[in-house]
Amino acid sequence: MSISYRIKYADLRTRKPPTNGRRGRRFAARIGGMTTSQSPLSDRVALVTGSSRGIGAAIATTFAQAGARVVLHGRDEAALAAVRAHLADLGAEASTVTGDITVAADLERMRDQIGPVDILVANAGSTSSRPQPIEDITEESWRTDIERNLTGTFLTVKCFLPAMKERRRGNIITLSSAAGRKPSDRTIIAYAAAKAGVQLFTQDLAAQVGPYGIRANCLAPETILTDTNEQWIPDDVRHALAESHPLRRLGTPDDVARAALFLASDESSWITGVIVDVAGGAVLA
Ligand SMILES: NC(=O)c1ccc[n+]([C@@H]2O[C@H](COP(=O)([O-])OP(=O)(O)OC[C@H]3O[C@@H](n4cnc5c(N)ncnc54)[C@H](OP(=O)(O)O)[C@@H]3O)[C@@H](O)[C@H]2O)c1
Repeated sequence: MSISYRIKYADLRTRKPPTNGRRGRRFAARIGGMTTSQSPLSDRVALVTGSSRGIGAAIATTFAQAGARVVLHGRDEAALAAVRAHLADLGAEASTVTGDITVAADLERMRDQIGPVDILVANAGSTSSRPQPIEDITEESWRTDIERNLTGTFLTVKCFLPAMKERRRGNIITLSSAAGRKPSDRTIIAYAAAKAGVQLFTQDLAAQVGPYGIRANCLAPETILTDTNEQWIPDDVRHALAESHPLRRLGTPDDVARAALFLASDESSWITGVIVDVAGGAVLA
């Protein structure tokens, strides 16, 4: 586990130690403006794709602290082991699966290993593209961004949905981005288009699966200070970006994790098909 990872999650470790929970993971959570001494995700199995680092690792950590049985996922086994060790330090057990979310056979293998899940966070996604004029975007990089973000989300949901429908319960959270919320002349267009697609996909999904007692919602974060972003965004750019947010700071993985916990818990039981901007107000600006 990197030193910066340890520092980033130090705040989670300062929470009250686990007390008298069934699996020793009860904690005082503040959800939806209410303080509760319950474990809001108690006895639920939660798969968080892309939880070997970044936002996914923070969501998995928060869910584990909320009592969920967390399944960590990624491709980097060393990174997964580091997150798992971190959860063990917090008194939470987690299992791990590996696989590429753009490959249906990998997802099916993962599903066979895990069994049915109550909460699916389709978080894995990424781009290595740069903002470019449309005529300079190669077909290959366009297809890659769509594949890694939109197709990967579709394949993940498609794989785990039948068991949710059969059990008539489930909760799906997808990850969009502020890039998919409004046009900009500095955006990565294929990534933004893929994320906008994730939003409508999630809303169509919510409409289809609501009668089965399944909810589907989407988180749309602005720039989040993950380890990767901390490494790559220079200080002056970071400062300028923060100033462009009404709340005058960039987001943290924990900001996204808290929103995910709200959507995953029964505190949001009447909420489905929404896009939640975890963006410090940036999409208004
Ligand atoms: N960070 C931001 O500022 C930001 C803002 C808006 C939206 N988002 C979205 O939030 C989500 C998480 O972002 P992040 O910044 O936390 O990402 P990150 O730090 O780059 O981590 C990405 C995670 O997704 C996994 N992953 C990526 N492609 C995969 C694939 N094809 N198959 C399996 N696993 C894959 C990675 O696994 P391995 O590394 O183990 O391979 C890793 O666990 C993404 O959907 C991203 O688009 C991020």
